[in-house]
Amino acid sequence: MWCQVALLAAVSSLALSGSVQAAGKTKIVVGDDDGWATAQMRTQYNALKSAGYDVIVSAPALNQSGKGSQTTTPTVLDQPCEFDTCPTGSPAVGSDSSDDHINYVNGFPVDAIKYGINTLAPKLWSGSKPDFVLSGPNIGSNLGVVTLFSGTFGAATEAALEGIPSAAISGASGAEVSFTTASNKTLASTQSADIYSQLTLTLFDSLLSSSSIADGILPKGVSLNVNYPKIDDCPSADKFKWALTRLYWNPLSTDVEHCNSTHLPDETSIHFSGDCFASISVFNASTKRDADADAQGVVLKKLNSLLTCP
Ligand SMILES: *[C@@H]1O[C@H](CO)[C@@H](O)[C@H](O)[C@H]1NC(C)=O
Ligand SMILES: *[C@@H]1O[C@H](CO)[C@@H](O)[C@H](O)[C@H]1NC(C)=O
Ligand SMILES: *[C@@H]1O[C@H](CO)[C@@H](O)[C@H](O)[C@H]1NC(C)=O
Ligand SMILES: *[C@@H]1O[C@H](CO)[C@@H](O)[C@H](O)[C@H]1NC(C)=O
Repeated sequence: MWCQVALLAAVSSLALSGSVQAAGKTKIVVGDDDGWATAQMRTQYNALKSAGYDVIVSAPALNQSGKGSQTTTPTVLDQPCEFDTCPTGSPAVGSDSSDDHINYVNGFPVDAIKYGINTLAPKLWSGSKPDFVLSGPNIGSNLGVVTLFSGTFGAATEAALEGIPSAAISGASGAEVSFTTASNKTLASTQSADIYSQLTLTLFDSLLSSSSIADGILPKGVSLNVNYPKIDDCPSADKFKWALTRLYWNPLSTDVEHCNSTHLPDETSIHFSGDCFASISVFNASTKRDADADAQGVVLKKLNSLLTCP
């Protein structure tokens, strides 16, 4: 009997070993468009690392907000990196002197994420690609048509097009401040950075615990657009709820059936509802528009226990 129990346990742990969490550390490349040295970016990096993920930052050397999916060949810096984190004349790509997992790319957000996926990940992870790309948290919301101009959204889109599951994450509160301010817990920018990074951990726990890398964390060619509302009325991570939404308001669309409806609410109205809703929209990386109901359904199944009906 004992033997059988032990055998069963061994078999079931074998079966589990294909799942993302049991397979060891999940490998995440983090990018953004506000730059590699913002408090929000580094707070997210530290939180993911503390939670046991293997993380590489590959983000622009400078503030590259509003650059959408533009690309260029990264160049030598003709000015210092943001917040003086590297001098004029620094190479087109470079690392933090005390942590080679924190990297800048002097190009657009898409260039930085491509470098992270195709160069840094295989170099630092013995040939591996990332399991997931997180773009953000962006400082400020990315809702509806604004997503078309967002470098945060552009970088998540690029990852999905390259076959890496991804999410673009944005937070309404916060300021473009250096990571050196993040130790001052009385600053509003630190509080929002801390809350938003905890929310992202909650999202990842939910998404990754119901996924396996073999089966794909997200359907091919789709990504998630996630927006966190201002923290003013939601002063801690446990005050937030999660809603499945769509990028664009469209009463004629047929979405996945959820909350007794086949019309998901649009993320802009949920974002401004005043109810502390974090919104998650499933988008098509080829079109930057809402994904079809089947793809929404796959994500709904994974995140069901996290979601609340608005
Ligand atoms: C970054 O760029 C955006 C868009 O141009 C601007 O709104 C923002 O204030 C900039 N932030 C900093 C710190 O320069
Ligand atoms: C933290 O920020 C507050 C508000 O700006 C400021 O008054 C205080 O001096 C800062 N503390 C430290 C240790 O820098
Ligand atoms: C959906 O409709 C059923 C039957 O009318 C009801 O019992 C249930 O509470 C509804 N669920 C939601 C999420 O509104
Ligand atoms: C994404 O858009 C392309 C082009 O319109 C379409 O062929 C594909 O089915 C869409 N995929 C999803 C998941 O919505």
